Amino acid sequence: MDRYHPITVTLHWLLAVLVIGMLVMGKTGLNALPNSEPDKLWLLGLHRLVGIAVLVLTVLRIVLRRFLPAPGHLGTGSRFLDKLGVVMPRILNIFVILMAASGIWLGQQAGLSEALSGAAPLPETFYAYTPRMVHAILGTLIIAILVFHVLGALYHQIMLQDRLFSRLWFGK
Ligand code: HEM
Repeated sequence: MDRYHPITVTLHWLLAVLVIGMLVMGKTGLNALPNSEPDKLWLLGLHRLVGIAVLVLTVLRIVLRRFLPAPGHLGTGSRFLDKLGVVMPRILNIFVILMAASGIWLGQQAGLSEALSGAAPLPETFYAYTPRMVHAILGTLIIAILVFHVLGALYHQIMLQDRLFSRLWFGK
């Protein structure tokens, strides 16, 4: 069977876990905790660390895609859906990069590094900064794209029965 390269497979599933974890952490944990809460600081430190790792791994994935062998795209019988299947993962990559970049931008404006090093307190709220809004909107857009991404994969697997998931797993 034609499969993706093991490095491509590893990066895909690792990034899936990290990005979904970050979205859950942001939308639930971080959003729910006021900046005055002492526990907020280590959660923000973890969020920044994983966010930067996501940025590096996503760029690495895009670069490696040019060099690693990959099987051809699976058709659906619809030219529109086939185009969507090519374009959507690219948009997802771009939005994830913008998400991490807007987080870094927010961190810079709000003095996150100073707060994490103990040199200054966190601002009362992050909502006073423009990139906070950009970060939240991108997060919601990424969730919407991920829903369609999963639905598309399930359509291949269940309706078309073309073993899409096996192509994106390890094996000969
Ligand atoms: C792709 C990587 C990232 C994802 C998926 C992500 C996800 C999120 C989400 C979903 C939120 C909550 C947004 C909302 O209100 O709806 C959030 C908040 C936040 N993120 Fe990120 N983030 C990422 C990277 C980063 C990075 C690299 C930094 C900093 C260097 C960062 C700093 C923050 C801060 C400061 C908040 C605000 C927390 C608050 O208002 O209490 N993020 N993030």
